[in-house]
Amino acid sequence: MRAALSISSILSCATAALAHLGDRGEIGGCGSIATRDAVVLSSVKAQQLKRNARRNADDYHHGPIQTYWHVIHTNDTVRGGHLESETIDAQMDILNTNFAPTGFSFELGNISYIKNDEIFANTSVLENSTYEAIVAPTHVGGKDTLNIYTTSWLHVAAVYSNGNDSVLGISTMPDEEAVPIPELGDSVFVLYFSLPGNGGLGPSKSGVEFQGTTLVHEVGHWTGLYHTFQGESECDAVNDEVDDTPAHTLQPHALTDEPICRANPNVDSCPDLPGSDPINNHMNYVAEECRTEFTPGQIARQHEQMYLFRGIVAEGYDGPEA
Ligand SMILES: *[C@@H]1O[C@H](CO)[C@@H](O)[C@H](O)[C@H]1NC(C)=O
Ligand SMILES: *[C@@H]1O[C@H](CO)[C@@H](O)[C@H](O)[C@H]1NC(C)=O
Ligand SMILES: *[C@@H]1O[C@H](CO)[C@@H](O)[C@H](O)[C@H]1NC(C)=O
Ligand SMILES: *[C@@H]1O[C@H](CO)[C@@H](O)[C@H](O)[C@H]1NC(C)=O
Ligand SMILES: *[C@@H]1O[C@H](CO)[C@@H](O)[C@H](O)[C@H]1NC(C)=O
Ligand SMILES: [Zn+2]
Repeated sequence: MRAALSISSILSCATAALAHLGDRGEIGGCGSIATRDAVVLSSVKAQQLKRNARRNADDYHHGPIQTYWHVIHTNDTVRGGHLESETIDAQMDILNTNFAPTGFSFELGNISYIKNDEIFANTSVLENSTYEAIVAPTHVGGKDTLNIYTTSWLHVAAVYSNGNDSVLGISTMPDEEAVPIPELGDSVFVLYFSLPGNGGLGPSKSGVEFQGTTLVHEVGHWTGLYHTFQGESECDAVNDEVDDTPAHTLQPHALTDEPICRANPNVDSCPDLPGSDPINNHMNYVAEECRTEFTPGQIARQHEQMYLFRGIVAEGYDGPEA
């Protein structure tokens, strides 16, 4: 049941508010969608890696994760994608604040600017033109280094068939095969106006302002988390492989006008499975004001995924249990 959701139903209020930023189609959602088969296979792979886990502490990266920011732009104005370094600093603070409970932190190594009119206007992350023109020449480091790219439009054809729509962000997972997007070259992409204060543009005419939790969500994927509604439209007991994020479906959260954490905090879209929906979770599609937590189960998964697939050790983590 991939691609069962329509982007227009997800963040239509944000879309309307940001219509002046691009009138081509709808903006919303995230492109990092895993199939159930991939979730199961990746889980088997993690178990195998755990059995063969290296024990030499020198093999692992400790301390802040080096982060390289690549600003794709079309001219030197904010509207042309040319983010101010203050906006990126504010976004990095939001990222670190929200990740503090996980034991991971991120240190900005460098900001580089890439002028490319066509790719700024429409970044098709499933085409090698983007990989060859943007990612291959600029990506820094290996699997223990975070590379973030900002652009104005993210076309993800394989997931959302309507070429007129854009997702807010997309990321690879620590196990590349969990969400296989080789053209991303192990990177995170987000729309530049998803940064705090609409990326420095300030409030839109209707007062809507993105707050920077899109990047927190995408780095949630980069550190090993699936959506809490993994399975999307069905109540799937395999779900996101995290016990304390109850299985749920996406639609009831997407379709409320008022943020779900105020409108219906006890919503339970899978009543036959344990628990009510995680309406405060970073890995759910909920209004930004509702996104406040990674659960202990998610943090445990991030620790293990980052250790096994990226060779990164979270502060306070001693490696997977044998
Ligand atoms: C910069 O690019 C944006 C986006 O295409 C455009 O709206 C704006 O008019 C441009 N500004 C200048 C000064 O060229
Ligand atoms: C750092 O950014 C500058 C431009 O701001 C760029 O010229 C340089 O190549 C970047 N270095 C790395 C290692 O990315
Ligand atoms: C694009 O290039 C990458 C890196 O060389 C490769 O892994 C990938 O398969 C290519 N994708 C397509 C669609 O050709
Ligand atoms: C995409 O936008 C164009 C121009 O507005 C329109 O003609 C076309 O029907 C749209 N395509 C889809 C699939 O909505
Ligand atoms: C973006 O590029 C893709 C791939 O070339 C194309 O299919 C899509 O229609 C384009 N979208 C827009 C809004 O121009
Ligand atoms: Zn996502």
